[in-house]
Amino acid sequence: MFYKLPSSRDEAVNFDRHDILAHAREAFDIEGGLVYLVGHSLGPATHNALDALHQAARYDWRRGLVRSWNTAGWFTLARKTGTQLARLTGARRQEVMVADSVSANLFKLASAALSAGLPASSTLIIEEDEFPTDQYITEALANLQGADFRRVPAGEGLATLSETGGILVRSLVSYRNGERRDMAQEEKRAKESGGLIIWDLSHATGVIEIALNKAGARLATGCTYKYLNGGPGAPSFLYVQKDLIKKLQTPMPGWMGHAHPFTFDAEYTPADDITRFANGTPPILSLAALSGALEAFEALDISLVAAKARALGDLATHRAQELGLTVCSPLQADLRGGHVSFSHPNAHEIVRALGARNILADFRAPDTIRFGLSPLFLRFTDIWDAMDALADILETQSWDKEEYRERAAVT
Ligand SMILES: Cc1ncc(COP(=O)(O)O)c(C=O)c1O
Repeated sequence: MFYKLPSSRDEAVNFDRHDILAHAREAFDIEGGLVYLVGHSLGPATHNALDALHQAARYDWRRGLVRSWNTAGWFTLARKTGTQLARLTGARRQEVMVADSVSANLFKLASAALSAGLPASSTLIIEEDEFPTDQYITEALANLQGADFRRVPAGEGLATLSETGGILVRSLVSYRNGERRDMAQEEKRAKESGGLIIWDLSHATGVIEIALNKAGARLATGCTYKYLNGGPGAPSFLYVQKDLIKKLQTPMPGWMGHAHPFTFDAEYTPADDITRFANGTPPILSLAALSGALEAFEALDISLVAAKARALGDLATHRAQELGLTVCSPLQADLRGGHVSFSHPNAHEIVRALGARNILADFRAPDTIRFGLSPLFLRFTDIWDAMDALADILETQSWDKEEYRERAAVT
């Protein structure tokens, strides 16, 4: 779609004019003048998400009350939202549901796979630069189940999986530098040794094409508050390949995963579909917002979304190189997800200085500036302006202020 990069602001304006996804921005309620480069940390609100939340709270809860479990579709909302997500992840409708957090879902999936003897050995593997929660959960589960735990250097996870045939917990897109892995190839390699990969799709869903079925993926989870714009604390989703659903049992068999929750049986009988991975009562208000947010993707071709993410990333990395910044992300667009990272010893102060100009970006300790490039609402001019601001902040050293050194609880 985009064959060259804009080399001036006027050209960036022209790119926006011809952007086939330009209309997608209308779905969002974004303050004018804000350049929001953290859609992969917390996506902005869409009008539909806010409307769905409003409907669920003001009508279904306030007036419908308990009847809404049946009349407003609350009881099946986690499954319905799962089917909306299936299209974005290349899964069958019956293979995805929304529940809990990524942390909880990683635990449930890995534990269920171990108990069912799915991998050839009970070794749990994680690379040392994986997202922290993935590390904590994997290690804690290994301790609980008496499994072998291997924290291996970055880049050695697959080789260790090939040696051991255990379970590797792996992000499809690295949260640090945006590096994207080849799911199909890695699944193939994992299967050769009887190993299993549990994919963390948090930084991938809604910004790149994901083909869980085609790639032969067996288990996955991901969050919905980033590129999917589900809202703060929006629940996570999990995917189980259809032939495995009935073979796996959650280690947290709550009543919502029971085959017949309202018979109130003392004995647990798992549902015979993906809902067996539910445990407690779903967070309806959050689910309603998420379901509304996902409507923004319904008429979009995800391959166009991914193409625009690559082009925005190319523009950002190209200009960062011109500024002499160290680019941590792959320069080759098809090896990247939807965000790009640069390193600088004063990254924290620089991100705060950008914030003072109404350009919100992420700082990731110890020295990373991260730009999330959500193709649905970002324009080429946004990236152009953010890079101009970055250039000015670096040149004038206006980041060097006491107030920018203060660290908030959430960075
Ligand atoms: C790659 C990755 N995995 C997991 C998480 C945490 O997920 P949750 O808070 O839903 O447990 C995050 C949060 O940003 C993440 O980036």
